[in-house]
Order: sequence, then C-alpha cells, then structure tokens
Amino acid sequence: FLVNAHSDIISTVEFNHTGELLATGDKGGRVVIFQREQETKKQPHQQGEYNVYSTFQSHEPEFDYLKSLEIEEKINKIRWLPQQNAAHFLLSTNDKTIKLWKVSERDKRPEGYNLKDEEGRLKDLSTVTVLQVPVLKPMDLMVEVTPRRIFANAHTYHINSISVNSDCETYMSADDLRINLWHLGITDRSFNIVDIKPVDMEELTEVITAAEFHPHHCNLLVYSSSKGTLRLCDMRAAALCDKHAKLFEEPEDPSGRFFFSEITSSVSDVKFSHSGRYMMTRDYLTVKVWDLNMETKPIETYQVHDYLRSKLCSLYENDCIFDKFECAWNGSDSVIMTGAYNNFFRMFDRNTKRDVTLEASRENSKPRAILKPRKVCTGGKRRKDEISVDSLDFNKKILHTAWHPTENIIAVAATNNLYIFQDKVNSEMH
Ligand SMILES: *[C@@H]1O[C@H](CO)[C@@H](O)[C@H](O)[C@H]1NC(C)=O
Ligand SMILES: *[C@@H]1O[C@H](CO)[C@@H](O)[C@H](O)[C@H]1NC(C)=O
Repeated sequence: FLVNAHSDIISTVEFNHTGELLATGDKGGRVVIFQREQETKKQPHQQGEYNVYSTFQSHEPEFDYLKSLEIEEKINKIRWLPQQNAAHFLLSTNDKTIKLWKVSERDKRPEGYNLKDEEGRLKDLSTVTVLQVPVLKPMDLMVEVTPRRIFANAHTYHINSISVNSDCETYMSADDLRINLWHLGITDRSFNIVDIKPVDMEELTEVITAAEFHPHHCNLLVYSSSKGTLRLCDMRAAALCDKHAKLFEEPEDPSGRFFFSEITSSVSDVKFSHSGRYMMTRDYLTVKVWDLNMETKPIETYQVHDYLRSKLCSLYENDCIFDKFECAWNGSDSVIMTGAYNNFFRMFDRNTKRDVTLEASRENSKPRAILKPRKVCTGGKRRKDEISVDSLDFNKKILHTAWHPTENIIAVAATNNLYIFQDKVNSEMH
C-alpha cells in the first residue's frame, strides 16, 4: 500500500449544535474531534481554546470488484446528531457509505469482580471464599468511539450531502442523481425520495450538487443543481418528490452570459439560514441569498472574487473552475462567510453591506493577533499591502468553513491546516 501523501487534507468541518465540539474529516478517512476548553482558575487564558478530544479512522479505502472501481476513504461530510444522552453521535460519509458513530466518555471502571481479577483473568475458584460487590473506581478520562450503524449499498453515484432531519429520527443522503431518506435506526432499507436520472443517460443535463433539510419543518428539503437552480420539496405532498414544490431560479440575463457561465453557475453549496426563512447558495463567483417566499430571483447577490472573470480560461485549464466552495451563516444569519483562493476567505455583512477579505495564515493565527483585511488589486497601481490578481496562489484554497452556532468563532480549513479564529484567542492546528 502507498500512503496517500495528501491524506491529511481537510475535506469537511462541522461544529456540533452548541459549538463546544468541532469535527473535521480528511482525505485519509480520519475524523478529528476538537473540544473547547472550559475556563479554569489556573489557566484563565486557555478559555475557549479548542483542543483535540478524539481521533479515529472512520473510512478505509475499498474496492468495488463488480465495477472495478476504487472507493476513496475521503470523508465528504460530517453531521452531528442533536445530543440526547451523555454520548455524542455523528454521521460521516465517503462517496458510498454512511456511518453512525458514538462518541462517549469513560472515567470509571468496575473493580472487585468475584470470578476474575483486574486483568480479566479467571480466578482460581478455590480462593474465592467471600462474595463481594464490584465497585466503580475513578480512572483517567477515556474517550471511546464506536461504530453503531453502517448505511451501505444505497448509492450508485457519489454522495455529496447528508442532512439530519429536525424530527431527529431520519436523515437524507444525496448523490449526483438521487436522494435517499433513512431512519437512523434502520440500515438495510432507505426510501428514494428524489430521482432525476433520465431513462437515457445521454439526455442527462444536470446533476444534484447539494441537499439539506429545513431546520424546523421536517417535511421540507432543498436541493441544488449544476444548472444553478434550487428545488424545494415537500414530503407531505408526495412520497416521491420528483415534482418540486418550488423552483428557485434567476432569469437568465443574456448580457451577463459568458463562455464559462454554464460551469460557473453550478451551485456548490446550499444552506438554510438558522431562522429557516432564507437559503444561501454558493456558485463559483458569487454567494446568493434567497427568500423562501420568492422564487424568481435572489434577494441578495455578493461577488466573492469578481476579479477572476478575466482568468476563467486558465482556471478551466487547471480545473480550479470545478472547485466546490462551501458557505456558512453566522449564528444570527446577519453575516455570511465563504472561501476563496490564496487562503483568503470572505465575509459579507447583510445589514451594513460591508464586505471583507481575510487570510488564514500562520501570521494571523498567533494568539491575540488581529485579522488584517486583505485587498486584491486588479490592474493599475498596486498599493502597499495589496496583492495583485496575478500573484494569487490557486493551490491554496479555502473550500470548507464553519461558524460557531452562537458565538463569533469560525473554523477555516486551509489544505491540511485548521484555523480557528475567535475574539481574543486564535489558534492553528495541523
Ligand atoms: C455539543 O457538545 C457539548 C460538549 O460535549 C455538549 O455539552 C452539548 O450538549 C453538545 N450539543 C448538542 C446539541 O449536541
Ligand atoms: C453575527 O454577526 C453580527 C455582525 O457582526 C453580530 O452582531 C452578531 O452578534 C453575530 N451573531 C452571532 C450569533 O455571533
């Protein structure tokens, strides 16, 4: 076996519902969970820092002998389940198989068995003369991760999304052409709720790129497509959601068309706002905000890196134009974050309409460092501190970001480094 040299490239980042835990998945099939430290009297400055809590191998490379295909171990998505008891549960998926993991803590162990010793060996029964009651003794905290369910063999194409329903009992998984609905407790059966596969594959004109459940209405889900459209489905209306309830699509502006618009308009991510009122989509050049009550056009459009328009030809040649950038809302839905090239990421304030370009770098990740806004200059005179479009590094891209659900803390994955920026304490992890 060759060890994949890029196995530690981070492929997904996800906070749990209170933000105390943060999980990352990587190309090598590993999941790393970080936990936010509580403030202690001894180390008041440690407050809020995220430290590694547990690391485990979620997926292994596999080979599909029937189709002669290698199945990568890369983790495409992680989703936390709402916590119901002391343990935590999360779903992780690669291209084909979804797994449910239980993460639990142990800080006590039973001692004083009657028939076996502390190492588990059977005692010589002739020495057992009294009956004793086993007791729980404290021990060093241990985090145990155990696989609880494996949801396999339901996807012919590559899984791009998983989303846990607000009913806390079901979740969906979406691939290029189909969406399946699962019960979290049942692994041998799923229901196909969306199927856009044409009878004749030569007539294929669009694929599903992302899908998500509504945060509060368990019957509503949205999926995005490579044609730039969003379809809202209502599972109450029909079990098979082939007929969407609403189609969100921007009317085509003939003057705005350009050679690569079919590629750049493909939606790479869709996210409901926490309130459930809006949806945000990311395509190659923009982020758009849609109101669930208005299908005809987005209510807001933000340019992420418009200066790349003149570079699309070379971005096509080096395949960057197919990069799938994600997007995130802040806890109150008033600020939007999404990634760009050169380890830059962008933030848009929906109220003030201010936007900023920030950089994930070692320099910025020192404790108490202030994130300095960066500027990209397009032609003309370049001022000090500005960077020219021509010197942007397209190998350094920020595809995956996550925002703490209630605080001003963000997690930014830059290749194999995870940066966590928060008010006062910044950190970088490898
Ligand atoms: C997130 O993780 C923290 C830390 O273990 C836990 O206290 C909290 O209940 C979790 N939140 C949810 C909603 O799962
Ligand atoms: C979201 O951003 C706005 C503007 O910076 C800020 O006022 C608000 O507190 C943020 N919300 C959360 C939950 O962090």
